[in-house]
Amino acid sequence: MSKIHSRTDLTNNNLHNFVNNVESFHSTVFQKHKKIVKPTNLIYSNRKTSRDFNENKEIKEEDFEYILNNLYNSYPSAGGFYDVYSYLFINNVESYPSGIYHYNFSDEKPKCIYAGDIKAFVETANIQHEIINKSSFFILFCADTRRYIKKYGERGYRFLMLETGHISQNVINLSSSLNIGNFSCGGYLDNRYKDVLELNDYEIITHQLALGINII
Ligand SMILES: Cc1cc2nc3c(=O)[nH]c(=O)nc-3n(C[C@H](O)[C@H](O)[C@H](O)COP(=O)(O)O)c2cc1C
Repeated sequence: MSKIHSRTDLTNNNLHNFVNNVESFHSTVFQKHKKIVKPTNLIYSNRKTSRDFNENKEIKEEDFEYILNNLYNSYPSAGGFYDVYSYLFINNVESYPSGIYHYNFSDEKPKCIYAGDIKAFVETANIQHEIINKSSFFILFCADTRRYIKKYGERGYRFLMLETGHISQNVINLSSSLNIGNFSCGGYLDNRYKDVLELNDYEIITHQLALGINII
């Protein structure tokens, strides 16, 4: 009797049972998932990249805070470090004056670190600054690499990218459910941001995500 897998008891004789078990597991999981397929699909079908924001329309305070309160919700973090944090660049959000805010995993509210117009700076840091400057706000995700690299070596860098992806998808789903448009944008100059935010050598920028009201 030949073994199919050297590290299990799977053989030609019990293969049939094994396949049946896998199929029945899949159908059970599928049945369970059916319950959530509908609402999730609605969010997904709404989403596409926005490149035409209405600069005159603000995001409501309530919607902004809903996104922030859930941004760091329910995502996995390699090593449980949770060292991806956000800088919020605000143009047009109700009750939040223009400027740059810091917002971390454990923060209740964003903290203003610069008050004032950000558009002139954004022009120097982004290729597609016309789009970004019409958004209501954008999030610059940054990460402190130290604990990740210490524990995982170069793989820690990959993990930070994955973690940022998890958080970004949260933001995209939350904003899409509110009919707020999203623009993932990788065309920025890291050093411009690093200088203005005074990031240290261990801190990296992991993503940039702009949100705003679409011109319909
Ligand atoms: C990490 C990342 C970086 C991106 N950078 C840019 C960018 O610099 N400029 C741009 O116009 N779109 C950018 N996009 C958006 C993609 O072009 C877009 O998602 C793709 O064309 C698919 O279109 P859809 O989002 O409408 O489905 C980026 C998307 C991701 C995930």
